Amino acid sequence: MFDRYREHLEAALADAVPALQWHPVNILLRYHLGWSDHDGVPSPTPASQGKALRPTLCMFACDALRGEPAHAAPAAAALELIHNFSLVHDDIQDQGLERRHQPTVWALWGTPRALVAGDAMQSLGDLAILHCDGAVASDTAVRVSQLLTQSYVEMIEGQCRDLQFEQRETIGTDEYLDMIALKTGALIRSSLVIGATVATHEADTIDGVARFGRAIGRLFQIRDDYLGIWGDEAITGKSTDSDIVQRKKSYPIVYAFQQADGANRNELLRLYSQETLDEGNVDRVLDILDDIGAAAQTDYLTEITAQEARAALSTLELPPWAADDAGQLIDFMAYRLF
Ligand code: IPE
Ligand code: IPE
Ligand code: MG
Ligand code: MG
Repeated sequence: MFDRYREHLEAALADAVPALQWHPVNILLRYHLGWSDHDGVPSPTPASQGKALRPTLCMFACDALRGEPAHAAPAAAALELIHNFSLVHDDIQDQGLERRHQPTVWALWGTPRALVAGDAMQSLGDLAILHCDGAVASDTAVRVSQLLTQSYVEMIEGQCRDLQFEQRETIGTDEYLDMIALKTGALIRSSLVIGATVATHEADTIDGVARFGRAIGRLFQIRDDYLGIWGDEAITGKSTDSDIVQRKKSYPIVYAFQQADGANRNELLRLYSQETLDEGNVDRVLDILDDIGAAAQTDYLTEITAQEARAALSTLELPPWAADDAGQLIDFMAYRLF
C-alpha cells in the first residue's frame, strides 16, 4: 500500500512546497520533511521522511472505492503537510529533541523560528487542498477542505488535552481514549474519509470508512504510546525517555496510576508531583510499569482495538485486493516497530 502511492504523493508534495531557495523558513520546512540537510543542501534520506501514513490512507481509500487515486493526490499532500505542521509544533510542546532520526526543528533553530515553520507548513497544507479543484467537482473540493480543517481543529483540541493531562495524575481510560481520538484519531480518520469522498458520495459508505478510521486511529496511538516507552530508539528515531520525563499520560502511565497500590502508588505520586522527571526517576517509573505488567496490558488493549478495527473493516464492501491491504494495515498499526 505504501509503495503503490509513493510517486503520486511525492509529486503532489513537491508541487505544494514551493522551492524558494534561501528563504529561511523554506530550509526549515525542507529539513523537517527530510528533503535537505540543515543548510538546505538536498540530501533525501528515507528515514528522515516519515511513513506517509495519512496520505497513503487517503489515496488508498479513494482507490479502494473505485475512484481515481491521482484525483486524491492534492488532498493527500495537504494531509501530510498538516501532519508535519502538527509534528513541528508537537516537538516544541513535548520538548522532543529527536524525530525521524534527526534533531528536531526547534532544537536546531529555536522555538520562535520553529513556530513560524509550523505555521508555514499549515498554510501550505491549506493551499494544497485547494488544488483538488482541478480533479474533482467544486462542491466536492469544498467538502474535502471542510473535512480537513474540521479534523485538524479536533487535532488541536486533542493536543490541548494531552498537555493538560501532564498536570494531572489519575486519568480515566475513557478520558485517555477521547484525548487520543482527537489528537491522533481525527487526522487518520479524515485521511480515509477525504479519500472516500473523492471517490463516492454514498453517505453509508463514507460512514463505514469513518468507523474504520476511528478504530485504526486509536490503534495507532496506543502502539505509539508503547513505542514511546519500550521502542528501540534506533528504529523509531525518537527518544524513549521523553514521554516519562514530560509526565505524559500515555496509556501505560494511565494504567499504572489506576492499578498501582501501596508503595508503588506512593512512589508514583511522589515522582509525578515534580515538574519533570530525571533519569533516575525514569528508571523508577520503568520498574513500577514492569511490576504491574503495563507493557502486557498495553499489548492487550492494542489487540482489542485491532479486533475492533477488523470488525469495522468487515462491514465495508471492498474489492478483495483492498480488503487484504486493509487487513495488513491493521497488523502493521498494531505490531509496528517504527
Ligand atoms: C507521529 O506520527 C505522531 C503521532 C500522531 C503518533 P507518525 O508515526 O505517522 O509520524 P511519521 O510521519 O511517520 O514520522
Ligand atoms: C502526536 O502525539 C500527536 C500530534 C502531533 C497531533 P505524540 O506527541 O504522542 O507523538 P510523538 O510520539 O511525539 O510522535
Ligand atoms: Mg505530543
Ligand atoms: Mg510528541
